[in-house]
Parts: sequence; C-alpha cells; structure tokens
Amino acid sequence: MTLYDDTRHPSQPAQGPAPGDSETRIERVLFTAREIADKVEELAARIRDDYRDRPLVLVGILKGAFVFTADLVRALGVPLRVDFMAVSSYGSATQTSGIIRILKDLDRPIRDQHVLLIEDIVDTGLTLRYLRDHLQAQAPASLRACVLLDKPERRQVDVPVEYVGFTIPDEFVVGYGIDYAEQFRYLPYIACVRPDR
Ligand code: PRP
Repeated sequence: MTLYDDTRHPSQPAQGPAPGDSETRIERVLFTAREIADKVEELAARIRDDYRDRPLVLVGILKGAFVFTADLVRALGVPLRVDFMAVSSYGSATQTSGIIRILKDLDRPIRDQHVLLIEDIVDTGLTLRYLRDHLQAQAPASLRACVLLDKPERRQVDVPVEYVGFTIPDEFVVGYGIDYAEQFRYLPYIACVRPDR
C-alpha cells in the first residue's frame, strides 16, 4: 500500500489504529493524499515563482505543520533554510484560547531574511496573528504565511494569509499532521471527525 492509495476507507488505517485511537470518530475523508500532494505542488509552484532568486527561510509551526512543512520543502526543490517554532495555546482539544505559549523559538535570527511561515490550519486566527507579530518584531526582509487549511467562518481576528491551500467549512479535521487530542496526526489524508461530547 502506497502513501497515495486513495481507495482505502478511513476505517482501515495503513498501520492499524494507535493505542487509544478511536477510529469510529472519523466521519469522512475531506482531502485524499493525492489531492493534498497536488495542492502542495500547486502552492510550491506559486511560491517558487514569487520568490525566484530571493532565498527563503521557512518557519514550520509545530506540531501540526510538521508533515506539510516536510512535503512543501521537497516540493519547492530549491535551496532554503528551515526553522521551526513550537507553540501551544491554552484551551480544550478543539478550541483555541488565544493565549499562546512559545515552547520552542527560532534557532537562528531572521533579520533581513525572507520568511515564510508554514501553518497547517488557520481557525480563529489568534495563533497566526501572534506568530506574525512575533516574527515581524525581528525585522525580516519580508514575512508571508502559507496555510494548508483555512476556516474563515471561525475567524476572530483579521490576519493576512498570502498562500491558502484549501478553504474548509467549520468542521473538526484531522490527519496529515493535524490532531484531535493528539490522535490522528499519522493519517496520510485529511478527514472530518465527530468530536467527543
Ligand atoms: C492548531 C494549528 C494552529 C492553530 C490554529 O494548533 O496548528 O497553530 O491551532 O488555531 P487558531 O487559528 O484558532 O489560533 P494546536 O494548538 O492544535 O497545536 P498543534 O499544532 O501542536 O496540534
């Protein structure tokens, strides 16, 4: 079975459910691995075209964006620097509180660098707003954001997103790095889940 096998039903995960996973919560596949791969290629082509000879620093936001960042870096196929930040927000499994904690900051300065922030999802926008402000304060040459999934219905603050993969409705999504209560990050596709009551 390959990573791009789209025929598999979500109730039949590639390696079986991890201990504690409740596969019955997965309702339907929203984007298959193939659809995601095509979108990543499309985004990479746009980004390559926009930056041309300007060297990029990609800043992946852990944990959710780890898969997207890895795929985007390879799809871009140009020399660039990669850094990561890890942030968490106080709140429940499905609701951002807006109070962001930096668990890991950048390893190297970004002053005068062209920075592209990589996020898996923008929901209320509070995390991205905080991160943009945090990075902008370090005087990069430019700062843009690339987000795989955008949930505009949930937005609480205005925040620019220069590159959007898919616009999605207000549903809980998992897979391709995105979790629900730390489960489901391993899924190669993106699916909707029924949250715990
Ligand atoms: C998710 C996602 C974004 C944030 C978006 O992270 O990766 O960082 O929520 O939500 P917002 O627009 O409402 O702020 P999460 O807090 O689930 O942590 P994780 O990336 O480690 O899974």
